[in-house]
Amino acid sequence: MTWILPLVLGYLLGSVPFGLILTRVTGAGDLRSIGSGNIGATNVLRTGRKGLAAATLLLDLLKGLAAVLIAAQIWPETAPLAALGALLGHCFPVWLRFKGGKGVATAAGVAFGLAWPVGLAYALTWIGLLATVRISSVSGMTAAIVAPLAAFVLGYPQAGLVLTVIAALVLFQHRENIARLRAGTEPRIGGGKKK
Ligand code: G3P
Repeated sequence: MTWILPLVLGYLLGSVPFGLILTRVTGAGDLRSIGSGNIGATNVLRTGRKGLAAATLLLDLLKGLAAVLIAAQIWPETAPLAALGALLGHCFPVWLRFKGGKGVATAAGVAFGLAWPVGLAYALTWIGLLATVRISSVSGMTAAIVAPLAAFVLGYPQAGLVLTVIAALVLFQHRENIARLRAGTEPRIGGGKKK
């Protein structure tokens, strides 16, 4: 039964919807009726509040990192379960009737917590594509796919396995973005193609 505690800890930490909370308390509006309707940093950016978007990204990342590091301290060898729990919490929070975010920032946090070189590969892929392609969903999905590959190549097979499951979850959560990409209507950061 010790497997359930790190999973629940990760879920509870991951389920805190920072984007929604920050935009609500600062009067920036209800994210779910803005842009893509997502509760993540990219959609917070669409409110025009860059600082809030940066804070959302950082806090969503830190909750994933915290879940992994705390679980590893309390229950050795359970970090992958906490990582999975954090993603499930972010994507399917009970507080929002299981309609949460897409998991890109939280996955970055758990990748850093599981193995920092893998987190670095994730971050470099993500930032590199954000700066060049400028499509948030493409950058996030690619980073999520690169992470397990980097984990296996760099010698972290356990992290590689859980990050494979997480990548599948991140792709599933981006199904509407994938449909927009196929239709050529996915927006670029800072303008460009419209939704
Ligand atoms: O991290 C979420 C991002 O990949 C896509 O966000 O709002 O464009 O659907 P959004």
